[in-house]
Amino acid sequence: MEELYIKDSATHRGVPIIRDESHEILIEYIKKTNPKHILEIGTAVGYSGMAIIKNCSGKLITIEHNSNLVKEATQNFKDAGLSERVQIINDDCLVQVALMVADDKYNEYFDFIFLDGPKAQYQNMIDGLMMLLKSGGTILIDNVLFRGYVDGSVKAPTKRFKTITKRLKSFIDDFMNRTDIKNAKLIELEDGMIVATKV
Ligand SMILES: C[S@@+](CC[C@H](N)C(=O)[O-])C[C@H]1O[C@@H](n2cnc3c(N)ncnc32)[C@H](O)[C@@H]1O
Repeated sequence: MEELYIKDSATHRGVPIIRDESHEILIEYIKKTNPKHILEIGTAVGYSGMAIIKNCSGKLITIEHNSNLVKEATQNFKDAGLSERVQIINDDCLVQVALMVADDKYNEYFDFIFLDGPKAQYQNMIDGLMMLLKSGGTILIDNVLFRGYVDGSVKAPTKRFKTITKRLKSFIDDFMNRTDIKNAKLIELEDGMIVATKV
């Protein structure tokens, strides 16, 4: 019930949250893997985080740089009685990923990573994120096809979106050719997702 309200409220105000079928895919992989330690990049108001935490018994660390969204997400998790299993870090994700990489505790710590933050930074974060992911762990990456611009299913991107489209294209190519992943799959629905397992 609260999820529906959170979704409607976010949509109404133009806060970007995971789309419906992608939400189902996230839940499917969470249920399938039942992770103990999950990292999410891009909390927004906690909508996807709630899907994660409600469908497994693990603990979630989620990173968001917008303080207003952090406040709202904190309240949403509290209202849902889920705060004990959620830690929201209010900071830039690049900074936090770098700090985690430098901290031995987080070396191969997470069994599941959901990357749903700044698309322009995916390439800059991915090596660090893969260091934080356990062998056998799952990484799910949202928005890789960016409104159909990346796979060309939508006409050429407007000038404003050209750079990000180019960056995401090269991100997908590089990621799919990584030697530290297996079973990589590009899920071509909605905004496009990639799922892969760390070898
Ligand atoms: C697509 S939204 C996340 C949606 C959320 N995962 C959901 O489905 O409910 C991306 C989020 O990343 C946050 N973000 C953007 N750049 C960031 C950065 N450098 N560090 C941390 N968070 C960032 C945005 O404020 C936004 O809330």
